[in-house]
Amino acid sequence: MKEHFRVAELFAGAGLMGGGFHAAGFKSIFAAELDSRAVATYNNNLSPVAEVHDVTVVREGLEYDVLVAGPPCQGFSTLGRRDPKDVRNALSLTVYEWAKAHHPKMVVIENVPQFLESDYWQKLHCLFTGDGYECVTWILNASDYGVAQHRRRSFTIFSRIGLPECPHPLPGKLTVRDAFSGLSSVPDGENYHISPEPTEIGLARMKLIPPHGDKRDIMRNAPELCPPSWMRMGNQAVDVWGRMDWNKPANTLRCSFQSASKGRYLHPEQHRVISIREGARLQGIPDNWVFSGDRSSIARQIGNGVPVPLARAVADAIGKVLATQHH
Ligand SMILES: C[S@@+](CC[C@H](N)C(=O)[O-])C[C@H]1O[C@@H](n2cnc3c(N)ncnc32)[C@H](O)[C@@H]1O
Repeated sequence: MKEHFRVAELFAGAGLMGGGFHAAGFKSIFAAELDSRAVATYNNNLSPVAEVHDVTVVREGLEYDVLVAGPPCQGFSTLGRRDPKDVRNALSLTVYEWAKAHHPKMVVIENVPQFLESDYWQKLHCLFTGDGYECVTWILNASDYGVAQHRRRSFTIFSRIGLPECPHPLPGKLTVRDAFSGLSSVPDGENYHISPEPTEIGLARMKLIPPHGDKRDIMRNAPELCPPSWMRMGNQAVDVWGRMDWNKPANTLRCSFQSASKGRYLHPEQHRVISIREGARLQGIPDNWVFSGDRSSIARQIGNGVPVPLARAVADAIGKVLATQHH
């Protein structure tokens, strides 16, 4: 029988990371998240322990084995402005305040790989190791763990009961075709299989983009459909208006995946961006999840998260250490 090790989450989002821990047999006892719609989604699909709560205020009196945190990554990501003064960066330090109050056995912090080079990571490392925790870091690509998406994320694990082994990559990679299997190619509106109608000019552009193509195909074949800014920028930022490839994992899915102009979010064949359900599939979210909020909120909840199977692989590795200690 699986022991139900207890987990508390900070910056819980819609619970994708939490879903991985849940699937690995952990019991969530508390989850803090500012966005009420993400909280509702969390509570719809996992244990209803998520609260609209600002993590800068430490909740007293909690007892749990593992603290899991996915602080906002905008300030660290190379796509964002990477402003060292971005206040969102400092939020990662609150993880230590919670750990200091509750003494969990292990702490897991997920973020973009660049987080590991930040002063905030150094500071956290210094504080946790000063308190007797050991540390290991992993940079994992979701496509190695049963997810049809290239998404590299760092995991920093602090432990006072021994360090986990890095989860082994699975053989083979899932493709966009695997992820979308069984879904109608024209969204039928069922179970979040919905995508926005392109504008007239958007549709005209999409029709010019072949499989694996992108903005460059529009620039080459129909300059009249290109705003002057594209021409000025030349071939910079080419990975927009991009079409997915049926036979490969998708590129990293972001919150903006409902906008063709924001990335490689076009369906492999259809003249549309991928649907909400297709996005959820690319994040390994089970089809029975119910989301709260409007389409753009749901897209944010999906794009913000840790792919569930990747979270599961990390949770399994953490669970093994706790189990060894338990017996
Ligand atoms: C990268 S997302 C976390 C996603 C989550 N790990 C998952 O897998 O679904 C970061 C989240 O932190 C939340 N957040 C930002 N500032 C916060 C604060 N002060 N207190 C609580 N949550 C906050 C954001 O609303 C966002 O949902």
